[in-house]
Amino acid sequence: MLLSIESSCDDSSIAITEISSKKLIFHKKISQEKEHSFYGGVVPELAARLHAVALPKILEECRIYFDSIKAVAVTNEPGLSVTLVEGVTMAKALSVALNIPLIAVNHLKGHISSLFIEKDGIFPMLALLVSGGHTQVLKVNDFFNYKILATTLDDSFGESFDKVAKMLGLGYPGGPVVEEYAKKGDENRFGFTTPLYNSNKIAFSYSGLKNQVRLAVESLGDMSKQDKQDICASFQKTATAHLLHKLKNILKKEANGIKEQNGIFSIVGGASANEYLRAKILMLTREFGLELELSKLKYCSDNAAMIGRYGIEAYKHNYFVNINDIKVSPRL
Ligand code: KG4
Ligand code: ZN
Repeated sequence: MLLSIESSCDDSSIAITEISSKKLIFHKKISQEKEHSFYGGVVPELAARLHAVALPKILEECRIYFDSIKAVAVTNEPGLSVTLVEGVTMAKALSVALNIPLIAVNHLKGHISSLFIEKDGIFPMLALLVSGGHTQVLKVNDFFNYKILATTLDDSFGESFDKVAKMLGLGYPGGPVVEEYAKKGDENRFGFTTPLYNSNKIAFSYSGLKNQVRLAVESLGDMSKQDKQDICASFQKTATAHLLHKLKNILKKEANGIKEQNGIFSIVGGASANEYLRAKILMLTREFGLELELSKLKYCSDNAAMIGRYGIEAYKHNYFVNINDIKVSPRL
C-alpha cells in the first residue's frame, strides 16, 4: 500500500491506496472552509496551523495499515509554502520511521490523476485545469509529461469566483455559492465584456472581469438578493464564455491529432465541479467529436486520493526523492 498526503492549500487529506489494484483503502479529508470564510479567502498562517492539528489526527486512523505501507507520496509543489511544509514534514518523518521511499508529487499532476482513481490511465488527452490557483489547457502525454498550451496572465477561474463571492459578502469558497446564486439570476442583466475577445493571444485573464464586477457592485450600492443573483449569473456566463472562446481556438488546432488517438478531453480541478461549465464544455467537445472525461465530484477539489493515484505510477517507475532533497515550492 501507498500512503499519500495533500496539504497544498486549505484541505488536510490522507489516503491509502493498494499499489497493485489501485484500490482506495482509506481516504479522509478535513476542510478549513468555515475557518477561512470569515476572511473571504485562505489565510496561509491559519491554514498551516490547522493542518498541524488535522494531519496527525487523520494519520492516527491510518496506524493499523503502517505494516503494509511501502511508500509515502506527498504534494510538494505548487501551493502555499507554509501549508506544503506541513505535509512534507509529515511525509519525511514517515519515510524515516517506516523506512520507506518518499515520492514528491506535483499538485497539477495530482489533479490530472484524479481522473484515474481506481482506474487505468488513458493518454494522450487534452485537459482543462480550473482550480483556485490555475487556469490551464494541457496536452497530457502520460502521468508524468504534459505541455502547457495556454495559461492565465493573471488570476485564475476559481479565484475569480472567490473574489466575486467576497465582493457580494457570500463567504469562501466562492465557486459553489456563486454557481448556486447564478441559477436564479438573469445572466444578461450586466453586459460584462469577455476578456481578450479581440486578441489573438491564446491565454486567459480574469483580473479585468473581476474589476467589471467590482464597478457594477459599487454602482448598485445597497444590493438586493436578486441583484446579487443577477451579478453571479452575468459573471459566470462571461467567465465561462472566455474559457470557451479560447478553448475553441485551441481545439481547432489540436482536436484532430487527439481524435486520431483516443479523442479525450478532460476537465480537472476544484472548479470542474461547476455544472454550468461542464454543460458548456460538453457541447464544445461534441462539436469537435471529442469525448468528455470528468473526475467524480468528490475528487474534483483537493484530496489525497489523487496524490496517491499519481504516487502509484511514480512508485512503479522508482521515482523517489531523498528526504534531504525534497523541495517545497509555491510555483512550478
Ligand atoms: O482544486 P482546488 O480544490 O484547489 C486548488 O488547487 O486551488 O480548487 C478550489 C477552487 C476555489 O477557487 C473554488 O471557489 C473553486 O475551485 N470552485 C468552483 C466551484 N467549486 C469549487 N468554482 C466554480 N464553480 C464551482 N462549483
Ligand atoms: Zn488543487
